[in-house]
Amino acid sequence: MSALLQHVAIIMDGNGRWAERRGLPRLEGHRRGLETVRVIVEETGRLGIPFLTLYSFSTENWRRPLQEVQGLLALFEEAILRYGEELKRNNVRVRFLGRRDGLPEHLKAMMHELEEQTAINQSLTLNLALNYGGRDEILRAVQRFQKAQGDWSTLSEETFRVFLDTENQPDPDLLIRTGGERRISNFLLWQIAYTELWFTDTLWPDFTVSHFHQALEDFARRKRKFGGLG
Ligand code: IPE
Ligand code: IPE
Ligand code: MG
Repeated sequence: MSALLQHVAIIMDGNGRWAERRGLPRLEGHRRGLETVRVIVEETGRLGIPFLTLYSFSTENWRRPLQEVQGLLALFEEAILRYGEELKRNNVRVRFLGRRDGLPEHLKAMMHELEEQTAINQSLTLNLALNYGGRDEILRAVQRFQKAQGDWSTLSEETFRVFLDTENQPDPDLLIRTGGERRISNFLLWQIAYTELWFTDTLWPDFTVSHFHQALEDFARRKRKFGGLG
């Protein structure tokens, strides 16, 4: 694995279509998507990539029918119950990115508990973006900055970035989007300034370790220049 690859971010799209194509309820697609999450988290740990960020629910996803939103929120609770112990055992540090208010109290408590219980873990840092929007994150960071010091004359990219939900984590090197759309959908707007993008038509429930490797191999061939001459 390339030493230059520290952080992978994924827009896990296509769950709904996966289910619809099979005549199943959309929620069944989200359930299958959770299986993919488990496989990819494990593989990321095995490869020794230190940071993985998964887009799980956007600030815009509240626009979906109530039944789907409620089903997703219930699925997040179920996922924490089912996989929390495994994550702890595997030394994974879990962080939630996004706006906490608006989420059910019970889920918020479970998220907080999992973060606390995994805070000292040192293998993979798994960021779960839940009720997350990139613009919302930037505005919340501005508010935090003002609360903490409020001296705009000292504001720089380096002093500002630590107020983002990703705090002092490295920016993603690679962003994968499954499900065929070629857009960012309000994900990590600040952090992806120089991220390499990789798109696939494969729907998230069909995404395998082999697709993941394909993305990583493609990344390894990219020449990053960051505005310089490389
Ligand atoms: C992504 O799958 C998961 C979430 C947004 C929660 P979608 O539910 O957007 O699946 P499609 O795009 O409708 O197929
Ligand atoms: C992005 O997928 C959000 C998540 C994967 C959680 P969407 O399906 O919500 O994005 P759009 O609506 O197609 O842009
Ligand atoms: Mg979608």
